[in-house]
Amino acid sequence: MFKDGKPTQNFPQYYDSHIDITIPYYHTFNIEIINLVKAACPEPALWLDTGCGTGTLVGKALQVFSGTQFILVDPSSEMMAVAKSKLESKYSSRVSFLEMSTTQEIILPGDKKPDVITAVMCHHYLREKGRVEATRKCYELLKPGGLFITFENIRPFTLPGTDIGKTNWGNFQIAAGKSIAETENHIKRFGVEYFPITVEQHLALLRDSGFKVVELLWYSYMQAGFYCIK
Ligand SMILES: C[S@@+](CC[C@H](N)C(=O)[O-])C[C@H]1O[C@@H](n2cnc3c(N)ncnc32)[C@H](O)[C@@H]1O
Repeated sequence: MFKDGKPTQNFPQYYDSHIDITIPYYHTFNIEIINLVKAACPEPALWLDTGCGTGTLVGKALQVFSGTQFILVDPSSEMMAVAKSKLESKYSSRVSFLEMSTTQEIILPGDKKPDVITAVMCHHYLREKGRVEATRKCYELLKPGGLFITFENIRPFTLPGTDIGKTNWGNFQIAAGKSIAETENHIKRFGVEYFPITVEQHLALLRDSGFKVVELLWYSYMQAGFYCIK
């Protein structure tokens, strides 16, 4: 569980074994992010993944983009420790780690600008002001012409849509093997421990942050993915 965007005790160990039964198509998101990078920016020199969590996306991308350096950013030392344990020794020359929130002053070594920035399921803990700051920070950090990809939990457009979405998402979790009590606890966090906005609000935020190309990449259940070019 996350409280105020921070994982509770022992959560990082639990995360990797439970994410597939919590977020429908979670592993497909990662595959589609990699496919999109292959199409839009096939040879990125530098890729920054903020809210990297346990390093799952970068772990997959390292195998596909053999010439790419990766910077993993996350404010949680516990989540980052898991990412480091999976990636640091195997890919020591291609990965570096920064324990920071996207909203902090991120200074990259040599003032380098990433070709790709990803932010997956990590900015929905922020309220409006923080979310605007985090999105603008991604824009500022990115190289001109660079690619930004973000996936987030989404608020449906209507209250009936939100109720149906929650039931559908809960049904997914139960069918995937989660207990009813654990599922109910998870669904109750919507709008309480994280603060989803609608697809329209995301598109407006990304355009207002300055991106010249803003596209919807994915929408399923209560998650959506977007990509943008600076
Ligand atoms: C649900 S996990 C997602 C992790 C990973 N991106 C993934 O797809 O598996 C959310 C992550 O966002 C991080 N996080 C929370 N607030 C953040 C912020 N303001 N900036 C960057 N990361 C944040 C948490 O520490 C956690 O590791």
